[in-house]
Amino acid sequence: MGPLAGRRIVLGVTGGIAAYKAVEVCRRLVDAGAHVAPVMTDGALHFVGRATFDALGSEPVQTSLWDEPHPIPHTRLGQGADLVVVCPATARLLSDYRTGRSDDLLTATLLATRAPVIVAPAMHTEMWEQPSVAENVAVLADRGVRMVGPVDGRLAGGDAGAGRMADPADIVAAAFDVLGATAGGEPSGDLAGLTVLVTAGGTREPICPVRFLGNRSSGKQGHALAAEASVRGARVQCVTTQPASAPDDLGMEVVAVDTAAEMAAAVFERASGADVVVMAAAVADFRPVDVADRKIKKDGGVPEIRLEPTVDILAELGRTRSGRQILVGFAAETDDLRQNAAAKLESKGVDLIVANDVSAPEVGFEHETNAVVLLDAFNGVSEVPLCGKREVAGAVLDAVLDIHRIRDDKMNDKMDDDRADRLPNGDDT
Ligand code: CTP
Repeated sequence: MGPLAGRRIVLGVTGGIAAYKAVEVCRRLVDAGAHVAPVMTDGALHFVGRATFDALGSEPVQTSLWDEPHPIPHTRLGQGADLVVVCPATARLLSDYRTGRSDDLLTATLLATRAPVIVAPAMHTEMWEQPSVAENVAVLADRGVRMVGPVDGRLAGGDAGAGRMADPADIVAAAFDVLGATAGGEPSGDLAGLTVLVTAGGTREPICPVRFLGNRSSGKQGHALAAEASVRGARVQCVTTQPASAPDDLGMEVVAVDTAAEMAAAVFERASGADVVVMAAAVADFRPVDVADRKIKKDGGVPEIRLEPTVDILAELGRTRSGRQILVGFAAETDDLRQNAAAKLESKGVDLIVANDVSAPEVGFEHETNAVVLLDAFNGVSEVPLCGKREVAGAVLDAVLDIHRIRDDKMNDKMDDDRADRLPNGDDT
């Protein structure tokens, strides 16, 4: 019995390239125990075959007002639903829904329901920013429709900008939220009960009030980890240098910091309460010894900036953590990826290193995608080929859970051994 057991969800899919991501939404909702009735528009059928949703949904896909044995399919679907989720939602769908047009099964179902509705728009930036579209969205939101996304990112045809559909996990999290799907008031998910502390972004070390030493980290991978941990039920604390782009609708604690010293203070304050610490941040290794209190002017000549080391937060955590805490570090490398990552696993005393070759195309800093190698302290090595940062986050958290299980098994074996040692010979009570 999943947390959504007994809940009936109509999943509307319209014609956008993001329709393929609705497949993942469907799978996650069904996995959570919901009864999912997929409804596809004609446009959606150009992007994803109906067989995919037939196979994954809880009942066959419906596409038309006219060809179902039930005489009025939209009222059956609309009245029976606990929730309607539309992903992706095109500009056409938003317009029809706003104005009450109902010339296909999905729009008719939307009119025929009193259930809450979640809409995940997806379109090109120019379309998303059209005043007409913005007005439709504002009106629908005002009527109580829950909008999820869109977010900034890669769009169809190689463009980038606002209009990318929200991540499937965030759409599913919104469904959980709307349906109040928690087990006994506690969050559900495979990380429920764990506190996960994640750092994200690159630190900035001031030289003067205007300039700093920084790096190219955007915080995207750290934020994806924080979001994924959150939707999988963890209590999340996210210490970030990029608070404006941190996930703000998932109930996590976001702590804004700027320098390595501030990040260290925020992490050390929270680390003892965390079951898992993931240091995804790119922390400066050096900072200026002296910070000028006024802008350094160029006619004063080329300045000499003396540097001193910052604290290595991860190595310090590796030295001081409790035996049960799982510590995850990142290794951003340009050469000898595996050797350097293995050396960091050892020298920093961590359980898992997420290594990426930041010189490879589409990998690491500022990109939406990443490709990593995971090395764990039990000699496990696995590769996560080029994919979205959210998928990488999922793989990292899966690896964390594996380590958690291995630890528990070892702990149980040790307790059994200790107990056996304490028992007199022949006593098997
Ligand atoms: N890290 C840290 N504190 C620092 C520097 C790095 O906690 N002062 C953490 C990072 O968050 C990351 C890991 O250590 O999880 C490895 O960071 P990376 O920059 O790849 O390696 P460094 O230890 O800085 O070593 P080098 O720059 O020589 O590769």
